[in-house]
Amino acid sequence: MALLEIAGLRKVFGQVVANDHVDLTVMPGETHAILGENGAGKSTLIKMISGLYKPDAGTILFDGALRNFNNPREAIVAGIGVVHQHFMLIPALTVAENVVLGIHGGWGRYDRKTAEEQVSKLSKEVGLPLDPTRKVEDLPVGMQQRVEIVKALYRQAKLLVLDEPTAVLTPQETEDLFEVVHHLNQDGIPVIFISHKLDEVRAVAHKVTVMRAGKTVFESPVGSASAQQLAYWMVGRDIVLQTQRDVVQSGATVLSVNDLTVFDDRHTKKVDNVSFAVKEGEIFGLAGVDGNGQTELVEAITGLRKLAHGSVYLQDKDISRASVAKRIEQGIAYIPQDRQRDGLVLPFSIADNLQLREVSKAPFSKGGWLQKRAARKHAEQLVEEFDIRPRNVDLPVGDLSGGNQQKVILAREMARRPMLLVAVQPTRGLDVGAIEGIHKHLLALRSEGRSILLVSLELDEILMLSDRIGVMHAGHLVAVYNNGEVSREELGLAMTGEITAKEAGA
Ligand SMILES: Nc1ncnc2c1ncn2[C@@H]1O[C@H](COP(=O)(O)OP(=O)(O)OP(=O)(O)O)[C@@H](O)[C@H]1O
Ligand SMILES: [Mg+2]
Repeated sequence: MALLEIAGLRKVFGQVVANDHVDLTVMPGETHAILGENGAGKSTLIKMISGLYKPDAGTILFDGALRNFNNPREAIVAGIGVVHQHFMLIPALTVAENVVLGIHGGWGRYDRKTAEEQVSKLSKEVGLPLDPTRKVEDLPVGMQQRVEIVKALYRQAKLLVLDEPTAVLTPQETEDLFEVVHHLNQDGIPVIFISHKLDEVRAVAHKVTVMRAGKTVFESPVGSASAQQLAYWMVGRDIVLQTQRDVVQSGATVLSVNDLTVFDDRHTKKVDNVSFAVKEGEIFGLAGVDGNGQTELVEAITGLRKLAHGSVYLQDKDISRASVAKRIEQGIAYIPQDRQRDGLVLPFSIADNLQLREVSKAPFSKGGWLQKRAARKHAEQLVEEFDIRPRNVDLPVGDLSGGNQQKVILAREMARRPMLLVAVQPTRGLDVGAIEGIHKHLLALRSEGRSILLVSLELDEILMLSDRIGVMHAGHLVAVYNNGEVSREELGLAMTGEITAKEAGA
């Protein structure tokens, strides 16, 4: 018998029908993937299952009873554990406090010692070890996700729902997560797994349901659906999974990084004497396993982190000590890794977010007054160009789907026509159609002669877009290749540190 059976679910926000006639059946012990493009309604469905939203119509049958959750608490008590796309932890509290609090009825009865022991033990048992004493705000996103999962299991979830869990994970962390999912399935606990990546869905799921424009349009065992077929159901048209890169003459040097050394917050050397240059009309791809210094390198270039040694030049200007604001003014744009934290003001409208960086510049500012009409027109153009849905620039960014929030940042940063765009994982969390669009935009910037430093954990993305590819390992830039002159295997070897100090190209 099915553990979860959803029929005819519907949810409307103003003029947007976010869910319509949604059906979903989940059997014990299986992993059921939900695929769908940005804004298809996946997170809305999950929020109804977890008591955050009330359905306008339809039924949720869970564990043998019809459910009508009034709040998330009731869903948790029923046995539904959810890790939302944007986490719901309390940053200032410790891991143990986040896991345990809220079910024993307030602070009064919280026994720190017991809680920490329990959390430590449980996290090890499920294969996601955690230090219960650390503050959540000090943890990297991958670890925060562990806290969310352990929290759900601590509350004895009978069903675990993961909304785009791998978007914030490294490939290794993704493998670890899949292990955990397999073990849960073996114990009879089903998992609902939301992702944009077909290969992940194939690796971890038994069944797949595709959503499009709020409706469930396709369901099948994973084994009997081809990648092309799934992509078609998702976007309703055939997707070109390969983008064409034309030849652009690269010109003068735009960014030069010289003998750069950078330490992290714990005074560990993360970037060790790194030098490279990026030219006009060039995409320089930085490949590497996460945690090998890419983050600190990028922070040093954008001004978020101090250099310990060396220099950074933008054209012929030494910007090594310039503030972040100064660097933006001089022509650096930045797509950060943690977008909700560093990139957007969620209660502000799309229009306001799109011009966060531009408020002091004409045509948006005249004698200090914002020119609302110019800003609006600009925003409407960008919403069209970057396919931000829905097409309403007055909506608060917080009401957009996860992928559409990202498109807002991408649009804002690319539209500035920066001299140098530093793009960290620019397509993370985007659906295949949107990725195709972003790749085209990046290549268009390049054709205009702009420079792009692309940091990505996706080797395919690096290979598809880059003119040259640098590989980071243990803080060193171990190799630089001209794209086309290096195999995936060799890149892989360089990423693990097997090849050192090989220089290719200029
Ligand atoms: N609280 C809200 N208020 C208004 N509109 C909303 C709200 N939440 C979602 N929507 C709208 O409902 C639609 C579905 O959004 P949802 O977040 O469910 O998409 P999704 O499939 O999870 O997309 P993504 O892959 O980008 O995360 C979108 O058009 C979105 O803008
Ligand atoms: Mg979502």
